[in-house]
Order: sequence, then C-alpha cells, then structure tokens
Amino acid sequence: MATNIVQELRTAITNTVTSLMEEGVLGQSEIPDFTVHYPEAKGRGDFASNISLRLAREMNGSALEIAGAIASLLQKNFPHIIEKAEAVSPGFVNIALSSSLFLQEMHEILRQGDAYGSQHIGKTMVIEYSSPNIAKSFGIGHLRSTIIGQALRNVYEFLGWKCIGINHLGDWGTPYGKLITQIKKHILGEQSAAQNKNILKNLSVQDLERLYVSFGKEAEENPEMQEEARLWFSKLEQGDHEARLIWEEAREVSLREFQRMYDLLDVRIENVMGESFYEKMLADIVEEVKEKGFAKESQGALIMEFPEEKGISPAMLRKSDGASTYFTRDLAALRYRSNQWSPNMLVVETGMEQALHFRQVFCAGMLLGWTEGITLSHVGHGLYRSQDGKFSTREGKTIHLEKVLEEAVSRAKIMLEASGTMPDFTEEEKQEVSAIVGIGGVKYNDLSQHPKKDIVFSWDKILNLKGDSAAYIQYTYARCESIMKKSNFLATRDLAKPDKTQDISEEERNILALLHRFPSVVEQAASQLSPHFIASFALDLARRYNAFYANHSVLQAEKEEEKEFRLALTKATAQLLKSCLCLLGIQAPERM
Ligand code: ARG
Repeated sequence: MATNIVQELRTAITNTVTSLMEEGVLGQSEIPDFTVHYPEAKGRGDFASNISLRLAREMNGSALEIAGAIASLLQKNFPHIIEKAEAVSPGFVNIALSSSLFLQEMHEILRQGDAYGSQHIGKTMVIEYSSPNIAKSFGIGHLRSTIIGQALRNVYEFLGWKCIGINHLGDWGTPYGKLITQIKKHILGEQSAAQNKNILKNLSVQDLERLYVSFGKEAEENPEMQEEARLWFSKLEQGDHEARLIWEEAREVSLREFQRMYDLLDVRIENVMGESFYEKMLADIVEEVKEKGFAKESQGALIMEFPEEKGISPAMLRKSDGASTYFTRDLAALRYRSNQWSPNMLVVETGMEQALHFRQVFCAGMLLGWTEGITLSHVGHGLYRSQDGKFSTREGKTIHLEKVLEEAVSRAKIMLEASGTMPDFTEEEKQEVSAIVGIGGVKYNDLSQHPKKDIVFSWDKILNLKGDSAAYIQYTYARCESIMKKSNFLATRDLAKPDKTQDISEEERNILALLHRFPSVVEQAASQLSPHFIASFALDLARRYNAFYANHSVLQAEKEEEKEFRLALTKATAQLLKSCLCLLGIQAPERM
C-alpha cells in the first residue's frame, strides 16, 4: 500500500487543533468535518485544508487568525512531514510537504512497480459495455462504449475488484425478420439455409447491412414484404429451424467482425449475452411485475408506472400486439445479472440518450426487490463531433470503425516519420509503433474527457507529439526508457536515499509532488466512473518531466549522487506513465 499522506496530514491537523483547544488558544468545540485537498492554483503549496473556515463558523472567530495559529503550530510540531505551513485568505491553511516524504513515496513506486496504487478490495462488479447490433458494421458509434467500458473495468480490476464483462449484443427484434426475408429472397432463393451454410458463412457484415437497408426501398414498392418480415420474426421467436439457422449465421458473421475490432483495440469481454439470451425469461418477468402489482393495462399494451416522487415516465412492458420490448429485455438482464453474480456494483455504459431508459430499468429493479445492496450506475457518453459534422451519428450515417483505425495508424506513421524519431527502425517496427500510437491516439482522445462530454474528432489533435495526446505521453515514456537503457539502470540497485533533501530543483520537486497522488487519482477515476482523471494525471506528469528534462541533464549530471536521484525520478515517472496508459488500455512503446 502506498503511504497515505493525506491521512497523515489529517492526523497532524487534528492533533494540532486539539492542542490549541487544550491550551485555550481556540475555544472548546468538536473537531468539524474538514478537507485536505490539492490546491488548484500553482504556488499554493502541496495541500490545503479548510479546517479553520469550519472552526471560524462554529466559534464566530476570524478564519484567517485561526488558520495562522494552526499553521505555526503545525510547522513546529511536525517538521518531519511539513516543510512550511501558512495561513492564506480567506482562511485556508496551505501546506508544503517535506521533500523527504515525497522521496519516500518515490521509493515505494520503485519498489512496488506495476503494483503501486493497486488494492485488494475483493468486491464484484458486473460491467456491460460495447453492445453493438448484429448485421451492422461496427461503427464509430460503438467505439466509445467499448473503450470507456474497458478502461473502467481495468481501473476496478486494478483496485482488486472481480469484474464480469458483458457484451449485450443487439441481436433480437423485428429487424431480423426483415433481414431473413431479404436473405431468403436474394441469397437463398428456393434453397434452404441448411443446404447453403457456406454461402451464408461467407457473407460479410457489409453484405448483411446492405441487405437490411435494401429492405426499406423494396418494401416501399411491395408493401406485402412487411407482413412477410413479421412472419419471419415470429417464426424466429417460435424456434423455426430455417429462421433460426439464418439468424445464427448472421450473428456468427457479425461476431467475427466485432472480434476483429476487439483484437485491434485490446478489448476483452468474456460474456456475449445478447438480447436474444433473455427472450425465454420475458413471460416470467412480465408475470412477476403483474404479481407485485406494478403492471397496468394501457390502450391494449402493458406498462409499468413509477412512484410520482421519482418523476420517471412510465415504461412499456408489452406492446399492444403482444411483442416484447427493449425495457422488458433489460429488466430480464438486470434480474439475471443480480441473481447470477450477486455483484456489489452493476455498471452499464451506453450513449447518453439511454439515460432515461436506465433510470426506468434501475428504478423497476429496486421496486421489484432485485437489487438490494447493489450500486446501480449508468455511464452515459456523448457524441463524436467534428467541424464538418462528419462524425455526427445523429445524421444516421455509419462510419466504419475499421476504416477509422486504419487511417489512425497510417497517419501516425506519417507523423512519426516526419518527426524523425525512428530513423533506425525496421519497417516492421515502424508499423508496430505506428499502430500503438495511432490506436492509442484515438483512445486517449476519448478517455481524456469526461464520458458525458461530446468529443471532437480531429486528427490534428489526436496525433500530435506536443499536445494533449497519447503520442506525447508515449513519447515521454519512451524517452525515460531510453535514458535508463543508456545508463544501464537497474531497478534493484540501491537508489538515492530518501534523506536527499538538499539541492532538489523546482522542476524535480514538481515531479515528486505529483507522483504520490497516483493512488488517489485511480480511486477518483473509479468512484466517479471516469477514466479522464488518469489521463489528466499522465499528461501533467509528462509535462512536468519534460520541463525538468529541458533544464537538467540526467546522464550528464555533475555529481554521481545527483545522477542517481534523477535516474530514480526518471524510473518512477516511466513507471507511472506506463501504469496510467495501461489502465486506459493504451500501449506504452519502449522505443518511439
Ligand atoms: N445495442 C444497443 C445499441 O446499439 C445498446 C445496448 C445497451 N445496453 C442495454 N442493456 N440495453 O444502441
């Protein structure tokens, strides 16, 4: 476990305030709730506390005066952890930590390596992400859920949660009746699916998509096709052999394409449980909702209403033609997941437009008594946008993810070649690094923002060696690695001792003051379900390291002791950059 500096400071502050009360400097009162936080503004110390503001409110005193008393006693009593404490307006106590504490923590990072910041929480999470629809190519629209979900899962696993990943494939509903109609008409003709399995297997997802889209146009001229499609879907529901075979092949073809994307993206989702999986449970679900008194007839349909104070509009349990609904399938999914895994937490990552749907589903789960003790969270993401609107999914155009990733890799290669960073690379190595940088760039562009925000998709921003980008962080990591290689640095070597407190430059201290925050940044990303905290930390660290590197030489340091210290700093920086990238699902290249 990393030393909990914040906890140490809290204890020091509590002891100080208690002494001041005993001495009569402060009036007697309870110790109020207070914060120990990282001040936003630069030059404001490493930590700040609001305790004096809270005390002043209780005692009707001056916050600044109270802060002054606390600051001077803190500094006097805790010189081993506090270098300087001061009162600042309107009444905060700002604290500069002693460098030896930072150094100690740097050594912890070197000692623990990849494990630094990890925990063993031992709880269980079910997390659903990606969830594309079959017979449609994997569009850019499903990229966000795929990578945000995977990153959140990585973070929770790092904290010692057991995570169960679910791909809730869209593989059920009337569209598949349409698809079967078209496959019968244009591919199979009079022949049966069983005789033509190979032809079906050789279809691509694009073929399936074209067939599905062609239905709409053809049905305009032949309205009776609608009836035919309805019939095929109801055959599918009843387990008709022909319908089933065609649907299964279409599903397989789609899954193969999706798997190709997951491989490119380093994404693993071990349970593929599509909407079809829940089909056989739906009647039972509707029965249970009725029995518990939450179902209501409405114009021939069956709906579920929610208590007024929840302010949630009713949801459809069964349509008037008897067809099942998206809502009921998600109720089944919720009940199944809670029974099957008894998780402590259940997360679903989808587009923001499904926020109301999941409020309905989660509220229903609570009313039905299925989710006691489970924290339910919907993580909703915004849209991709670009200046020319090209990536707007609202226009309904599918942008093929594979094309986007290919473009990312080839653009990364051009960028890296132009920058002259890989002159001695073989063609194969160039290709490998370009893939790491290109795909990492697309991921970082997304994960460096809060999920709910819309994302601007601009190649100039995504592939940029200087900016807020994966390439910049990866490049900094590779720089650190190269310095260490040149120095024959061994991680196990006895490094600069934690007592080296003199002669630490401002740039070095800036790095030290950030390193120790990593464990709390990971916790924040987990509790707020947003990986962007980790991305910002990595960017900040890379910037601080480069600011240091621009002013100081590691290998040409004047004194041996100084060189050792800078190497340790470099190693710790590399370690945390790698840990961050790894949590985000981005690779860290050794050379670049
Ligand atoms: N397949 C759906 C879509 O593409 C997303 C599924 C979301 N998950 C769920 N449990 N409903 O929009």
